[in-house]
Amino acid sequence: MSEVNRVWRLRKRPVGDITDDVLSFADESLPEPRQGEFLFRLNYLSLDPTNRIWMSDMPQYMPPVALDAPMRGVVCGTVVKSHHPDYTEGAIVSGFGVWADYQIGTPETVSPMGDTTPVAVVDAFSTFAVVGPTAYFGLLDIGEPKKGETVVVSAAAGAVGSIVGQIAKIKGCRVVGLAGTNEKCAWIQNDLGFDVAINYRTADVPAALAAACPDGIDVYFDNVAGEILDACLTLMNLKGRIPTCGLIAQYNATEPVPGPYNYAMILMRRLRVEGFIILDYSERHPEAVAALGQWMAEGKIKVRTEIVDGLENALQTLRKLYTGANTGKLMIRV
Ligand SMILES: NC(=O)c1ccc[n+]([C@@H]2O[C@H](COP(=O)([O-])OP(=O)(O)OC[C@H]3O[C@@H](n4cnc5c(N)ncnc54)[C@H](OP(=O)(O)O)[C@@H]3O)[C@@H](O)[C@H]2O)c1
Repeated sequence: MSEVNRVWRLRKRPVGDITDDVLSFADESLPEPRQGEFLFRLNYLSLDPTNRIWMSDMPQYMPPVALDAPMRGVVCGTVVKSHHPDYTEGAIVSGFGVWADYQIGTPETVSPMGDTTPVAVVDAFSTFAVVGPTAYFGLLDIGEPKKGETVVVSAAAGAVGSIVGQIAKIKGCRVVGLAGTNEKCAWIQNDLGFDVAINYRTADVPAALAAACPDGIDVYFDNVAGEILDACLTLMNLKGRIPTCGLIAQYNATEPVPGPYNYAMILMRRLRVEGFIILDYSERHPEAVAALGQWMAEGKIKVRTEIVDGLENALQTLRKLYTGANTGKLMIRV
């Protein structure tokens, strides 16, 4: 075990893009687990758009990371020293942790991953920890897609969006995805089976969406908000559903963002717009894992993981999410 613990700490709240001075990365000594705690070594760090929310002090669904505290992250690690009978050395754990080589765990923060076969630990972590269940519950519980309906998803080549589109196909829907490059569009259409892919950076989005959705939109799975939400609102069918999963188009905004211009459509078409956070579904997590695991084993859902080596690269890699430089689930391997 190393004597040195490299730790990322939050030094200032970001304004706009996440600049280098927002976090520091420095050597510290190893923490010592107390009774009921254990020490684990980081194997994988999930990079998530919500990291930018946690760095800020905007109203949010968990307490913001305190200034000078280690940066919070969704982590996967190996127990190296334990004062808890249920967490033996060598056990693989995942849950909430921090951006550090070594950290203290408790049963309240991380859980044993157990036997993940036939799925490898890295795939179980990348797909089942957050993004797969987010796609599953957001689409099925809130979107309630029915066979023959039209489902539109934004950030469609990302970790959540790529799975949303594939579940919607399994449910017999017409699926339209919006993504930021032609390569991403080719991937979701040719490899993942989306019916239509729209490059929202080059297309006339309202016109392209209207052409792709001749029967209107029944479910818009919103990962981004902003102009794409507005374009979808105009096409929503009566009693349409909008699971509000994320707002990545505005996470780095420096000024108040305008509300949806087409807000009136919520009334005119009697829409249900419902925000959700995956933590709301903690108790049903095994249901999503079972369904996703089966679909993956049957080849009905394909997942892509983009792994970057080195905890020292966490900050610059995180920025990829906000520029669209990632495809699929973005993670750091330590
Ligand atoms: N509610 C929950 O519990 C929950 C859980 C997990 C994630 N989320 C949310 O789900 C969304 C997707 O998360 P993820 O982890 O799957 O990330 P991701 O989609 O893998 O990565 C983010 C993607 O967003 C797209 N993007 C960035 N800026 C954009 C903009 N201005 N307009 C349109 N698209 C933009 C980029 O793709 P392009 O190249 O296509 O632009 C980028 O690749 C995020 O909003 C996140 O906050 C919510």
